[in-house]
Amino acid sequence: MSDGTHLSVLLEESVAALALREDGTYVDATFGRGGHARAILARLGPAGRVVAIDRDPEAGPAAAAIGDARLDFRRARFSALDDVLDALAIGQIDGVLLDLGISSPQIDTPARGFSFRHDGPLDMRMDPDAGESAAAFIARASLRELTEVIRDHGEERLAQPIARAIAAARAVGPVVTTRQLAAIVAQAVGSRTRGDWRQDPATRTFQALRIAVNEELAELERVLPRAVARLREGGRLAVISFHSLEDRIVKRFIARASAPFGGDPRLARVPIADADLPPPPLAAVGRAIRPSQAECDANPRARSAVLRVARRTGAPLPGDWPAPGTA
Ligand SMILES: C[S@@+](CC[C@H](N)C(=O)[O-])C[C@H]1O[C@@H](n2cnc3c(N)ncnc32)[C@H](O)[C@@H]1O
Repeated sequence: MSDGTHLSVLLEESVAALALREDGTYVDATFGRGGHARAILARLGPAGRVVAIDRDPEAGPAAAAIGDARLDFRRARFSALDDVLDALAIGQIDGVLLDLGISSPQIDTPARGFSFRHDGPLDMRMDPDAGESAAAFIARASLRELTEVIRDHGEERLAQPIARAIAAARAVGPVVTTRQLAAIVAQAVGSRTRGDWRQDPATRTFQALRIAVNEELAELERVLPRAVARLREGGRLAVISFHSLEDRIVKRFIARASAPFGGDPRLARVPIADADLPPPPLAAVGRAIRPSQAECDANPRARSAVLRVARRTGAPLPGDWPAPGTA
């Protein structure tokens, strides 16, 4: 399904993964332009409900345009899931969908500053009314911070020369446009080519800054345990990620929450018979699902997508849920 500008990825697979009940309440925590939300609504009955969340200012009007009384949109970070549900007096839910990253309209709008393909202000915020733009981050980050962000969030092996080049450029004048940054990176990478001409040299640096500015990994780590805490027994968690950093977080979370003691290796060594172990709160459903070749041909953005699915069991959540470090 497309609204003309965003082709929803793994649409059928992710909606099927939610195992929809006609009268269920579902959260689309990354509404975007509503492709997934519309597909869910189409399968729900009159008593079904979709709560949609997005921090992008354009998402609200897209939700209003759907004009469906069963849809409630809230502009928020998805880590604020509890606040959103509490404000709607919703306790438990039947499923949560996360379709991570940015939408095509975001990347294709030069003024949002996400893309090195268009010239625009170096912004990159999903919510331009909150937090620090990429230009502001570049202006204030230490060389070490720049290097770490580009290396860790961009998985860029040339992080150090790129960070040095950015620091040298900002000493001359502020780095405030996407073209400026793309040119600095291209020059820094120069002849140190990785032999991968399919990818623009700025791809990884732009990804890294976008993840940092939007705190994407921390948001994901916060929302997963909160989503599970809201699921009723049998409720589904479905997450589509687009790069290995996200997918690793989702995969580890599901693995830990599907293991006794939340997968805590210290407790796993305690000599207790399997039958006496507390049952885990989550069960992985199937293996990772990737898009078909036909979907990748039709929508190149789908190529890196991975869908992981889990089901809430009837077991109570451990007393320390969400696990330390994820709250
Ligand atoms: C890939 S798009 C979703 C597309 C949507 N499923 C569709 O079919 O139209 C991801 C969306 O999630 C939003 N988003 C990403 N991280 C977010 C967060 N932490 N809180 C709220 N919204 C977020 C982005 O603004 C973007 O609109």
